[in-house]
Amino acid sequence: MSVTHAPQTADVLARQDPELAEILLGELDRQSSTLQLVAAENFCSPAVLAALGSALANKYAEGYPGARHHGGCEMVDVAERLAVERAKSLFGAEHANVQSHSGSSAVLAAYAALLRPGDTVLALGLPYGGHLTHGSPANFSGRWFDFVPYGVDAETGIIDHEQVRTLARAHRPKAIVCGSIAYPRHIDYAYFREVADEVGAYLIADAAHPIGLVAGGAAPSPVPYADVVCATTHKVLRGPRGGMLLCGSELAERVDRAVFPFTQGGAQMHTIAAKAVAFGEAATPAFSAYAHQVVANARVLAAALADEGLVVTTGGTDTHLVTADPAPLGVDGRTARGRLAAAGVVLDCCVLPHADLRGLRLGTAAVTTQGMAEKEMARIAALLAGVVRGSVESAWAREEVRDLVGGFPPYPA
Ligand SMILES: Cc1ncc(COP(=O)(O)O)c(C=O)c1O
Repeated sequence: MSVTHAPQTADVLARQDPELAEILLGELDRQSSTLQLVAAENFCSPAVLAALGSALANKYAEGYPGARHHGGCEMVDVAERLAVERAKSLFGAEHANVQSHSGSSAVLAAYAALLRPGDTVLALGLPYGGHLTHGSPANFSGRWFDFVPYGVDAETGIIDHEQVRTLARAHRPKAIVCGSIAYPRHIDYAYFREVADEVGAYLIADAAHPIGLVAGGAAPSPVPYADVVCATTHKVLRGPRGGMLLCGSELAERVDRAVFPFTQGGAQMHTIAAKAVAFGEAATPAFSAYAHQVVANARVLAAALADEGLVVTTGGTDTHLVTADPAPLGVDGRTARGRLAAAGVVLDCCVLPHADLRGLRLGTAAVTTQGMAEKEMARIAALLAGVVRGSVESAWAREEVRDLVGGFPPYPA
């Protein structure tokens, strides 16, 4: 692939600021010539990138369509209404707020809408795959709320549902959060709803990871069950970096006020326009086929990694996400990630439930966007295991990665 034809490399930037243009080209080259297995990443479309790089980036638009604090919002109002309508229709939600700058901002807004400082919240503990916003002491959530962590079963890696109910009964939380950065299985939203109802808690689904699968019909939707759904738009959903919130009409005003003016200022209209583009793309049969292929690929990858000797958490996956312990191959997650990075295989470390050392977290969203399928997953698993074990030479592995990704350019010229 010729990186000079990429959408990011507008000639104008190369002419005016060659130093920065070089950096952008370098990053595009990195993304195109290495293997992207970071579970939270994807390649958004040239149309999404076009909206991000549009004149809407110039516009200040505090408030909501029809009620802005700035003049000249008539066109961005149309863009935001379109994004909201598309999100509502895509997810079958009564209300959507598309202004959250990120997934973390969406979670912050959900808490602001439903909770007061000091309230008790039940969420998946960080050692089991909870996000920073689910009660980390390093994050506002752990500072401002009283988080009670639930975990996963030590044997199966599956959420300990009985523990969720027991802790809910004992602590009577104001809210229960379900969602994770690393849980590879579908979440039983109906069960969480039942427990929340039993103890009079709100249910907040942090669907940052699976929301794209939900859009494509490849994962169950939290919308019918959760009071508020928080999500990102940049993972499997393949939109711009950002967040969103979905809820019923009765909470709409509280959620909107929690975003603006409570936790954010001016909406980023170029990003909102790009979200509208992504929602439009996600409503197509092609996206549904993509979402199902993402899961099919992840299942093959998980099985192939297990065949290679890695211990795959929960024994497999229902989603785009696979987490695995490379210890049987002789190294921990950190060492494995370093070896893989040298070979051009890009992925993350993650916590492994009930383990001292870190494991590996991989996702199939980006490689599936590139057009890779089951055959390539088997090749990736063999390559990964060889590198981690140290049984293949790093230079050979790097060439193998180049050869593989060379057939699947993310932005074909
Ligand atoms: C479950 C969950 N919540 C929240 C977030 C935060 O999203 P962001 O990085 O956009 O703030 C993430 C990001 O990976 C996530 O996985």
